[in-house]
Amino acid sequence: MTVSEYFAQLLKSSMGDTVLDTVHVLSSAIEFKLKELATTVVIKGDGASSLLVIVTIIVLTSSALWWGWIFLSWRENTKIAGARGAGALPLPPGSFGLLPVLGGDTLSYLDAYQNFNIKRYVDQKVARYGPIFKTSIMGQPTIVLDSPAGNKLLFHEDEKLVQGWWPKNLKALVNYNGLSETNGEAHRVFRQHITSNFLGVDVVHRYFQTMERRAKAEIEPWTELKVGSELTIPTVDVLKNYSFRLICELSISLKDVREVEQLRHKFDMWSEGFMAVPVNFPGTSFNRALRARDVMADEMGKKIKQRRKELKEGLASETQDFLSVMLTHPDETGHIVEDKILVHTLLLLLWTASDTTASTLAMVLRETSRNPHVYRELMKEHASITRGKKDGEMLTTENLRSMKYTWRVVQETLRLYPILLGLFREAKTDFEYQGYTIPKGYKLLVTSAPLLDPKFYKDPKTFDPSRFEKVGGGAPAFTYFPFGGGHRMCPGNEFAKASIIIFVHQFLKHFKWTLVHPDEKIRYSFLATPEHGLPMKLTKIKPAF
Ligand code: HEM
Repeated sequence: MTVSEYFAQLLKSSMGDTVLDTVHVLSSAIEFKLKELATTVVIKGDGASSLLVIVTIIVLTSSALWWGWIFLSWRENTKIAGARGAGALPLPPGSFGLLPVLGGDTLSYLDAYQNFNIKRYVDQKVARYGPIFKTSIMGQPTIVLDSPAGNKLLFHEDEKLVQGWWPKNLKALVNYNGLSETNGEAHRVFRQHITSNFLGVDVVHRYFQTMERRAKAEIEPWTELKVGSELTIPTVDVLKNYSFRLICELSISLKDVREVEQLRHKFDMWSEGFMAVPVNFPGTSFNRALRARDVMADEMGKKIKQRRKELKEGLASETQDFLSVMLTHPDETGHIVEDKILVHTLLLLLWTASDTTASTLAMVLRETSRNPHVYRELMKEHASITRGKKDGEMLTTENLRSMKYTWRVVQETLRLYPILLGLFREAKTDFEYQGYTIPKGYKLLVTSAPLLDPKFYKDPKTFDPSRFEKVGGGAPAFTYFPFGGGHRMCPGNEFAKASIIIFVHQFLKHFKWTLVHPDEKIRYSFLATPEHGLPMKLTKIKPAF
């Protein structure tokens, strides 16, 4: 019996069936977050009783703190919403759920998110209330907009009506007063600074060589094998190594294997916190994540000081990486970024650039293997584009731009496995929308549900890159938004595109591959995560181009 089943049974005797489902989902959620403590514990019989008591205490304490946090959030937000004037239009239909102050829909939403069932979650609500409905998630009164028009509102360029918003647990984990925390003009200036100096389309081509070298280094142990040799690789780990080492090198010139591994260890602890119950209690994943973040922030602070010294002594170049650029280039208002914001931004870059790319690449390789015609088309494209290149000659911007089919494969992958299944914004002011009032302070949520909607995509579950011969896969504008949109749209999209295509190029060149588990379950542990790490059997081929 797992801890969640035990917990559900423990409460069954004292609670009615109505709340049992909620309790079960809660206990599953807690089990997931406390997995190091709990999921390894199998309660088998008499011998385990003291362990059982400890686990019960931890689970009950955590749940009390979790509910307390939800309750406080709810009180704070309904206070804001209560300030609406008389005669205002009604709120959208919907329900704040069973016991709204105790979390309402939070657990069904999280459950749907983790199990990749967001479309079903939204469909059930839409069938009941229509495409605009209210609910309560994470103690926040939330309005879900299930339509391209809703997405358009949320991804609007200016911030008159809505602004960026992150759930409190994410804020707590990332918050160092940087890009993710700012809104308005300060956010625009900083974004512009980062984009024009590090992530813009005119800058990213400078990293192609590093990307190609890193991709080659990651697969090198197997490219040396004899043609026809076979081996099994833990794909997700390999891809995480690639993307993490790449951003370490490009952001802080960190290449030393041991140092990268140490940072990676802390980074993994930190990123586990993103799906953890936000209970800051010794022993919880969330607490470990916060501590890991502080250690990383400390290390980044030291790197900044060290680099400043090296720049002064002429031992580092002004453009060698993101860190140097930020320390030597003022933004459009003439300011050099403050250290505490730079620390935050370095952490944010590690987070946004590494697992996102790895997760997308994993799904690209998975779908390519499941769809042999896609593999053939990719081979054809890469062979034709690199025909005539000398051995060791690097890919150019022109080559990458010509890899249109490969980019369609990535786009279709991001349609089926979007990086986020839900994105929040916050209403900045009371406003009216399609006959309803959206009160200031309410959260607005767009989900990935339209990406699987047959209204917009024929056979939505079929992997078909040819959809993207048309803009947006042929769906109406504002249906497809893999990199978000408006003033917070992902500034790393060109970087991501290049690093994914370059890896695919190297992989295609040397291997054929099949999935060890063709139907491996994909969960969303924040990002798409294959249950077994996507093991793949590689067959070494003669270099294909
Ligand atoms: C396949 C890879 C990636 C996907 C699908 C992706 C997607 C996203 C999405 C959906 C957002 C939120 C946008 C919004 O709120 O509207 C975002 C934000 C962000 N991404 Fe990416 N991303 C990827 C890779 C990267 C990379 C490689 C970098 C940096 C090198 C990066 C840097 C950022 C940053 C800094 C933000 C915060 C922007 C802000 O708040 O203004 N991302 N990304």
